[in-house]
Amino acid sequence: MDFKNLISHCKEYGFIYQSSEIYDGLSAVYDYGPYGVELKNNIKSYWWKSMVQMHENIVGIDAAIFMHPKTWKASGHVDAFNDPLVDNKDSKKRYRADQLIEGYAEKIEAKNIKDVEKAKARFGDSFDENQFRSTNDRIIERQKQIDEVLDRLAKAMGAGDMEALGNMINEYEIVCPESGSRNWTEVRQFNLMFNTQLGNIAGEEGKLYLRPETAQGIFVNFLNVQKSTRQKIPFGIAQIGKAFRNEIVARQFIFRMREFEQMEMQFFVKPGTEMEWYNYWKETRLKWHTALGTNPNKLKYHDHKNLAHYANAAVDIEFEFPFGFRELEGIHSRTDFDLREHQNLSGKKLQYFDPEMNENYTPYVVETSIGCDRMFLAMVANALKEEKVPDADGQDSVRTVLSLHPALAPVKVAVLPLLKNKEELTSAAQDVFHSLKKHFSVQYDEKDAIGRRYRRQDAIGTPYCITIDFETLENNTVTIRNRDTLVQERISIDEIKTKIGNNVSLESLL
Ligand code: GAP
Repeated sequence: MDFKNLISHCKEYGFIYQSSEIYDGLSAVYDYGPYGVELKNNIKSYWWKSMVQMHENIVGIDAAIFMHPKTWKASGHVDAFNDPLVDNKDSKKRYRADQLIEGYAEKIEAKNIKDVEKAKARFGDSFDENQFRSTNDRIIERQKQIDEVLDRLAKAMGAGDMEALGNMINEYEIVCPESGSRNWTEVRQFNLMFNTQLGNIAGEEGKLYLRPETAQGIFVNFLNVQKSTRQKIPFGIAQIGKAFRNEIVARQFIFRMREFEQMEMQFFVKPGTEMEWYNYWKETRLKWHTALGTNPNKLKYHDHKNLAHYANAAVDIEFEFPFGFRELEGIHSRTDFDLREHQNLSGKKLQYFDPEMNENYTPYVVETSIGCDRMFLAMVANALKEEKVPDADGQDSVRTVLSLHPALAPVKVAVLPLLKNKEELTSAAQDVFHSLKKHFSVQYDEKDAIGRRYRRQDAIGTPYCITIDFETLENNTVTIRNRDTLVQERISIDEIKTKIGNNVSLESLL
């Protein structure tokens, strides 16, 4: 399904609404509706259970969003958490200079793709794309241009050279997509942290930041947690919580938001063992994704070439979103950078006494960090489709179905009386509904014809529909319909819980 339809589906079926929509919305801020919050909570539970509950050496915390402002000085966010900003003087629109330049390279690549498509159509099955790309003069020339652009971009970004970025925008004659003009301001650094003010302290002294990542709440609590839980290294601290970034360009729905949620885990290890743990978490996290039945071709690793100031290795797990492969999760080997910097600025020791080695050291850290909202988008993009299915008369009809893993589905089972105006059916259905609601997220629905009710449940991803009909009144059996196979089976009411229980529980994933 295309991206525009996915966004409309999320709104129409109560998954996601634009924040403050009645005031024309607040850009890059979203609210989760009744089904959205259930799906999001299920994603969070799956992460929490597999990271905390399934690892004896990982514990959770819930740190505050506000932290002492020195935290962000130590972490490097005050000085280095910037994006290069450029304004177009005619449209008054702001852009990220690096994205404008990347867009320029993408336009060149689009020409290559067009040529590849044409050649594919001409040569049919015998077409070899790699060979074509490595021998066609036009493509080779364009590829050289792309490499040059991206190389210059990486160098300028690495050196924080705003002037070089400005020169590239001018040299490549990049125009504002809104006004079409090349009337640009200078490129300048823009800090992505939102700030606010403590009530009782005036000026700079009272300046507070909304945390741009949850990780720092873990670092500053490292010793508190280690001492109170008596964990031995290697051990991890996990957290789910809100983070805020004043993104310059926030497009693509919930992919890039200004207020979002992160699920992060910092794994503290003995220095020198970090690469072993980095590889362990790289594999473990990919398995977490594939266990959900996500198409493996839609997931891939992307190793970082330009490492952040704190990292000695970093990889993204990328997912193929409707707009291409993009970062879903990051795994970073963060060395002892954060603990060391907090130690220096606070003057408090953040070291671990290793009883086996009989010495103190500052642990190294391997981090896994995933955006909950981005995971939500990946799951919906992976699951939402339109497909042809036979209707009640055996004719082809099109249904929209959200084939989420049943453990993530917002509603696990819908209970549907065949007819609305037959009291004996509705009351039997209500009994079934009440007996199941203690165990699962269940929905009772009696409105509209049964076929339409099935379609509504398909659209929100409900894996099972139970229909109560006249036979139920005779022998206490119901039909249970499977969302994916569309097979309807007759089972006894007593069997419902066991029939669906295992399939919809998170246990099946752990
Ligand atoms: N503590 C490390 C850290 O924050 P990051 O790569 O900046 O690393 C980690 O962010 C994850 O958080 C990303 O992989 C992404 O899933 C999510 N994320 C980052 N910025 C986001 C945004 N503006 N909107 C939604 N999710 C975001």
